[in-house]
Amino acid sequence: MAASPKALLREHHPEYALPLPGSAEATLSLHTGTEMPALGFGTWQLKHHTAETVFQALEAGYRMIDTSGDYHTQRGIGNALRGFGGRREDIFVVTKVEETDDAYEATRRNLSELKLEYADLVLIHRPPEGGVGEVLWQELRRAKRDGLTRDIGVSNYSIEQIEELVYRTGELPVVNQIEWTPFGHSPRMLDFCHDNGIVIMAWSPLTRAQRLNDDKLAAMAARYGRTPAQMLIRWNLQLGVVPLPKANHVQHLRDNLHVFDFEIAPADMIKLRALNEHYSALGRLQYV
Ligand SMILES: NC(=O)c1ccc[n+]([C@@H]2O[C@H](COP(=O)([O-])OP(=O)(O)OC[C@H]3O[C@@H](n4cnc5c(N)ncnc54)[C@H](OP(=O)(O)O)[C@@H]3O)[C@@H](O)[C@H]2O)c1
Repeated sequence: MAASPKALLREHHPEYALPLPGSAEATLSLHTGTEMPALGFGTWQLKHHTAETVFQALEAGYRMIDTSGDYHTQRGIGNALRGFGGRREDIFVVTKVEETDDAYEATRRNLSELKLEYADLVLIHRPPEGGVGEVLWQELRRAKRDGLTRDIGVSNYSIEQIEELVYRTGELPVVNQIEWTPFGHSPRMLDFCHDNGIVIMAWSPLTRAQRLNDDKLAAMAARYGRTPAQMLIRWNLQLGVVPLPKANHVQHLRDNLHVFDFEIAPADMIKLRALNEHYSALGRLQYV
């Protein structure tokens, strides 16, 4: 079922509480009209056999897979998608190009590794040093015009970098994929993206398991009868942010989908946001 994040979030301001339908097949509308799953599966540093893990994720119910040319998981994902079968349009595939790439050629290369005719979303992985990636963006626009991808977006961009990119090219990204948890996020970025119809995708939404034992988070999770990981995922869903949890262990990837049958109360949403200390697994949030 589709929900316009902006309309719903306005309705539920100030904590953007966004009740979602009860399944991993819930979608959000991008500003281009595309429906995108509300939650996806991350594949960076999948340790075991990528194809096997991604297949298990698809079987469990994930309908969006996030990858990148530099994750070395694309061939495995392609194999998992083939093995899984079904209709191409039922799975949403996100990939990325690097700042030093020829973005058009890199997109073609990614598709060849994925064994797909088109991607659903291609992102500039990060802004190039000292610039906003205007040439990369123009090449991705061309890739979109030529049908290599349905939508295009950015990753690790600041508000100012997005504004500059749009000023120079006239095209608004559909997504900004950034590091995003209660411990590290930016209310200013949340407002900017909501106001402009850009969807935030949360990378490392589980803090790479570094903060799952946080006392306050664990105590709240216990109160809801959920795991800390489920609380972090649900917090994102209720903000209208799309989390991309990664898990090597099949029990983890299954548990991380059981987040559509409970709701975090507004007061607890506020408590979770109060945990913000601009935490980053890399030492510094790149977009603030
Ligand atoms: N655009 C970018 O620059 C960028 C940067 C980084 C990541 N990403 C994307 O975001 C995705 C997610 O980020 P991430 O891989 O860095 O880390 P993450 O999803 O925050 O955390 C993954 C870690 O959490 C553990 N975990 C998962 N579910 C759990 C559960 N239910 N209970 C306890 N532990 C659990 C995993 O353990 P097991 O593996 O042992 O199950 C793994 O150690 C990436 O895979 C990638 O697709 C994008």
